[in-house]
Amino acid sequence: TAPAAVIVAIDGPSGTGKSSTSKAVAAKLGLSYLDTGAQYRAITWWMLTNGVDTADAAAVATASAKPAIVSGTDPSAPTITVDGVDASGPIRTQEVTSKVSAVSAVPEVRTRITELQREIAAGAPEGIVVEGRDIGTTVLPDADLKIFLTASPEARAARRSGETKGADVNATKEALIKRDAADSGRKTSPLAKAADAVEVDTTDLTLDQVIECVVTLVEEKRAGK
Ligand code: DC
Repeated sequence: TAPAAVIVAIDGPSGTGKSSTSKAVAAKLGLSYLDTGAQYRAITWWMLTNGVDTADAAAVATASAKPAIVSGTDPSAPTITVDGVDASGPIRTQEVTSKVSAVSAVPEVRTRITELQREIAAGAPEGIVVEGRDIGTTVLPDADLKIFLTASPEARAARRSGETKGADVNATKEALIKRDAADSGRKTSPLAKAADAVEVDTTDLTLDQVIECVVTLVEEKRAGK
């Protein structure tokens, strides 16, 4: 008989290798994949392109129900559309990155996106790897396996500036620390490690080592250890 669907929650701050790890683990194990940060970026991008003042929480709350956000969950080609338009490129701009923490702190935004996330996870036939900030604590508290990735601020900034061509490491580090503080300090489902999450410090690990570690943990779960 086929193994039951397995739900894996991977949380942590930016630059810990969450996305690369989550995609690779899902691909190796034949699971679906969901990037929840992309959903918060997508709603932020929609607000910015539709003239909603992202600093005005009431305006953001009112507008939050409007855009249709659809995530494709193939780990080898994840997609995101907003009102039918491919948003994969525009959600990665500096402007979106600098505004996403404020938008994602609005409770109405979180309620809406959390519903989408639960629907997607429940509909994944083999199971899914869901990456974000509050997956193990709030979105999927009954996940089969919860991982919390960490790394030193220096390592995280170096990885992020490597991804953003020409970016200054110190400026990247400042922006990253600021965003993590906002994400950890907000009232509604902040970035946090679930009590039953396995913490993996990736500072001195290669990406392949992190992937291997998580794959082993999933396989152990599946084997009922
Ligand atoms: O993972 P990322 O950098 O693409 O996430 C963008 C922002 O979205 C992040 O700064 C905080 C927010 N976010 C969140 O509040 N909850 C999640 N589950 C995922 C992301």
